[in-house]
Amino acid sequence: MTMITSLATAASPVGRRIATPAAQATATATAAVAVAVATPSTLAPALASTPEATPSFRSFSTERPPRAPSISTRITDLFGCEHPIVLPGMSWISTPELVAAVSNAGGVGILATGPLSACETRASIRRVRSLLRDPDLPFGIGATLLMPGAHENAGVALEEEVPVVNVSLGKAGWIRDGLDAYGGKLLATVTNRVHAAAAVESGADALMATGHEAAAHGGDVTSLVLVPALAGAFPETPLVAAGGFCDGRGLNAALVLGADAVAMGTRMAVTEESPLAGATKEAIVTAGEAETIYGDNFDGIPARVLATDASAKAMGSRPLPPVVAYRAFCAARGMGIPLWKVLPGLLTQWNKMYAVAQFGAATEAIVAATVGGDVAGKGVQFAGQCQGLIHDVPGVEDLVRRVVEESLAVQRAQAERHRRWPGGTHHGGDYYPFE
Ligand SMILES: Cc1cc2nc3c(=O)[nH]c(=O)nc-3n(C[C@H](O)[C@H](O)[C@H](O)COP(=O)(O)O)c2cc1C
Repeated sequence: MTMITSLATAASPVGRRIATPAAQATATATAAVAVAVATPSTLAPALASTPEATPSFRSFSTERPPRAPSISTRITDLFGCEHPIVLPGMSWISTPELVAAVSNAGGVGILATGPLSACETRASIRRVRSLLRDPDLPFGIGATLLMPGAHENAGVALEEEVPVVNVSLGKAGWIRDGLDAYGGKLLATVTNRVHAAAAVESGADALMATGHEAAAHGGDVTSLVLVPALAGAFPETPLVAAGGFCDGRGLNAALVLGADAVAMGTRMAVTEESPLAGATKEAIVTAGEAETIYGDNFDGIPARVLATDASAKAMGSRPLPPVVAYRAFCAARGMGIPLWKVLPGLLTQWNKMYAVAQFGAATEAIVAATVGGDVAGKGVQFAGQCQGLIHDVPGVEDLVRRVVEESLAVQRAQAERHRRWPGGTHHGGDYYPFE
């Protein structure tokens, strides 16, 4: 296997931002010290649709030797991180502590702002910055634009010049403009080709494709198909694959399918630094890959949850509108969102607000499981199918190192296995991605 390969140096700007010469020099130096995973043929499918990449506006420090070999991709270049690993924004889980742990480990942590007021969002962003070992390390915030309070939280992120803003379920043109003022990056979460096209059209720097395997709101199509479909349809837009990725094998698979990074939700939720309740971590560690339920009765948007008696009941039927509205108001009050912000929408945009209200109504059950550890009673826990591959509760830094090292080891083993295949030489050379 060829060891030193700079994918970054072969790249040129993508999207709307052009890196400064200083940033380009840093990125090039960074790539030069990185041990990349393969020859260009290793990532041929990914790079076939990878004409350009942007050296980051904020690169990680090159003075500190990397703790694990780096894998350079368009996403590490775009965000200025060491490893192509993202912590997605997960309500009550992607807290400042976990976000900073992931960014400190060389990935990109995305702060969940769903349960936060604008004031709390600002405090949380500042808390993340206080925990970073290097102020230039990238991190982001998530904003589900359909939800009450999300626009305000995104506005705070722009004021605080957060490096990455991750949006979903809404138009992000004004956020794009705000990011342009300071060189921030827009990451759009999508579950299908139509939404991906709209996100690219509105100026997203990168897409996050959430497949069917994912915890919470994955789409209809599995990552195995969604990732190459979007990589092929939008070859100039760096792509983060989400849904089913939790180890080095998954990272390799995502890269080969055309992604430039993976987002790991369920895996990161079950780490030492994750605030997920201990009993719930335990339940996920012991659950198999088939022990989840997918449906749209729980919070109004198709979602995947850990299979329990409570989640089977919650997924079984849609709650009646008055019940949903009442419980949504309770949830909004609990989150400090004024009722006048919820009420007009309920009256004028019933379908949209029903979804929002149902989502709010689900809050109680999510908090019970996620924060309270009640998975045997009323709690309902978001969890992905990859729970069946999760068997421990590691620290974040160890996990990131393990994923990267496993990725490299699997590539070496794969190359060896193919060499030993009868007739393997017939297909040898560049044909095998891991040669
Ligand atoms: C416990 C948990 C909570 C989540 N909460 C949210 C959330 O609040 N908002 C959101 O957009 N996605 C949420 N997600 C989904 C993740 O953002 C991500 O799409 C998903 O976890 C990726 O799939 P994976 O779990 O297979 O890695 C959550 C996921 C988990 C595991």
